[in-house]
Amino acid sequence: MPPPAALGPNARLIGQRHAREQLATPALLLDLDVFERNVALMANRCRRAHKGLRPHAKTHKSARIARAQLAAGAVGICVATVHEATVMVAAGVSGVLITSPIVGTAKLAMLERLLARRGDVTVVVDNIEAVAGLERSARRARRSLDVLIDIDVGMKRTGVPDVRGAVLLARRLATSSVLQYAGVQCYSGSVQHIVQAAARVRAYSRQLAHLERVLEALARRGHGARIVSGGGTGTFEIDRRGALFTECQPGSYVFMDAQYNAVEPVAHAAWPFKTSLYVQTMVSSNHYPRAVTLDAGLKSFAMDGPAPLPVRGAPRSARYQYFGDEFGRLVLPRGARPLPLGHKIELITPHCDPTVNLHDFYHCVRGDRLVDIWPVDARGNL
Ligand SMILES: Cc1ncc(COP(=O)(O)O)c(C=O)c1O
Repeated sequence: MPPPAALGPNARLIGQRHAREQLATPALLLDLDVFERNVALMANRCRRAHKGLRPHAKTHKSARIARAQLAAGAVGICVATVHEATVMVAAGVSGVLITSPIVGTAKLAMLERLLARRGDVTVVVDNIEAVAGLERSARRARRSLDVLIDIDVGMKRTGVPDVRGAVLLARRLATSSVLQYAGVQCYSGSVQHIVQAAARVRAYSRQLAHLERVLEALARRGHGARIVSGGGTGTFEIDRRGALFTECQPGSYVFMDAQYNAVEPVAHAAWPFKTSLYVQTMVSSNHYPRAVTLDAGLKSFAMDGPAPLPVRGAPRSARYQYFGDEFGRLVLPRGARPLPLGHKIELITPHCDPTVNLHDFYHCVRGDRLVDIWPVDARGNL
């Protein structure tokens, strides 16, 4: 438990009623009741489908949240980078899958240190040229290392694009004395946010047909995949119901940002997961009738999604606009009551993962009470 001083300017408010209204802003806010329901719901859905759940911690970068997901039944967690893995392993998190290929001397040295510290990690690889580096790290750390082959099903970001490449890679891994071929990973980021569910199902089915061909070819040559890990929040209903994946990797479901709220869920009229993450901001200038200035701008929200969505404290149909590094503008509807200085407004984050990486702490609330403050442990560990 970090000392109170390490928990930022709001630490003195922990445990106090009405603390939510007194927070120094901008503050990243986590509604614990909703968050806990999301965590339990995803765990139950995967359990009922007999799938493993390995949630992606790139979304939250928090050891506390990773531990909550493990306690709910996750088989492990994913991280995006060896840097994030280092933070999670140091915090005692086990079953860590690093979902990006590890290439280059500096990252391989970090992997070696992680393994030497007995870190329970699995890595992915998408190129035969990268295998020797992984072998070196494992050998120097005197460890064996589980490896998944990363399969590209159409995004062209990482992953082996063709069946033959996957088979050659599996064959190469089978010759290694320190690496253990454990299966494959497949994540299709390009389909997760296709707004219409039917269009997403169609696009993803074509991609999964390729994954199936890869898995069949691997099995035919004696490289059957023990683990098939992948998918995200936008495809989890497809992944958990289908026969291909042994485990699902959703990340954003814990928070449900504006980007995901704009996407139709598959197999549900409404998302079963609800928004738990907000940025709380405050009116810091109010000279004009139709707009006020808020104290959260480009440094508080990642800008790659839709605009932050004003909810608590904002008049209905008020709109947020970016207004500089430290400022936002809340455009008020005609006839809205004037908003006083210091008035608090809470906004749904545009895209949760990069927004979280802009903040040091989660301010965990239940109703008006500030229950706890959790550090964003892996903030800046890119
Ligand atoms: C490899 C991998 N798996 C899973 C996820 C989680 O996806 P989502 O946040 O859409 O649930 C991501 C997110 O980028 C990812 O890169």
